[in-house]
Amino acid sequence: MVIAIDGPGGVGKSTVTRHIASSRGLEYLDTGATYRAAALAALRRRADLDNPAAVIEAVADAKIDFANGAVLLDGEDVSIEIRTPQITAAASAVAAIAEVRTIVVAMQRSWVERRHGKAVVEGRDIGTVVFPEAELKVFLTARPEVRAARRAADPEADGAAVADVRAALDERDHADSTREVSPLRPAPDALVIDTSDMALEDVIAEVLEEVDRRSNRPRLH
Ligand code: DC
Repeated sequence: MVIAIDGPGGVGKSTVTRHIASSRGLEYLDTGATYRAAALAALRRRADLDNPAAVIEAVADAKIDFANGAVLLDGEDVSIEIRTPQITAAASAVAAIAEVRTIVVAMQRSWVERRHGKAVVEGRDIGTVVFPEAELKVFLTARPEVRAARRAADPEADGAAVADVRAALDERDHADSTREVSPLRPAPDALVIDTSDMALEDVIAEVLEEVDRRSNRPRLH
């Protein structure tokens, strides 16, 4: 079964996704990492990010893959390199280009197909666009101040002030939810969980309960 885990930044998607995958023996795909790799591909090929045609050409030329929790660009593990603030900003810009999304989504679908449709897939548009037929769609939310505090506590934030993290998060949320192609929004049939006042274990328990409920459900075809 495909389990889609969508939601904005700082909501705990990655942690929840990894727990669900490991506790049910499934592989997971971090689609944010694939857009980050696409941004890195554009920068490495010296594409001007304000020139969509150049970005599309660079991304079409790149080989992006994801294996055992690591993202690969042209065969190289770039998992660390894609976590810089420069790539974070570039990924949001690159992900707003429709043709880039077409290329990256094709890679995501083929990745899941190679796993016979059994995977946990984390992102922004998995339940709405990439796998609208996913057996389980989860949309995690949390109040912006809670997400900013969580992000700031992340080692990746490198001690940045909560106010600065909040400003960057607000800007990216706005860009991701107002873009024309595949804006961030829950699928109509998604299980929406507001995690603001929940412990991580409780979020994981709620999702796992739903995973088990749906896997035991008899198929109708
Ligand atoms: O989750 P993240 O921060 O690694 O995502 C990086 C960027 O990619 C972010 O700006 C949102 C975008 N993204 C997207 O547009 N669609 C997805 N399915 C996943 C991420």
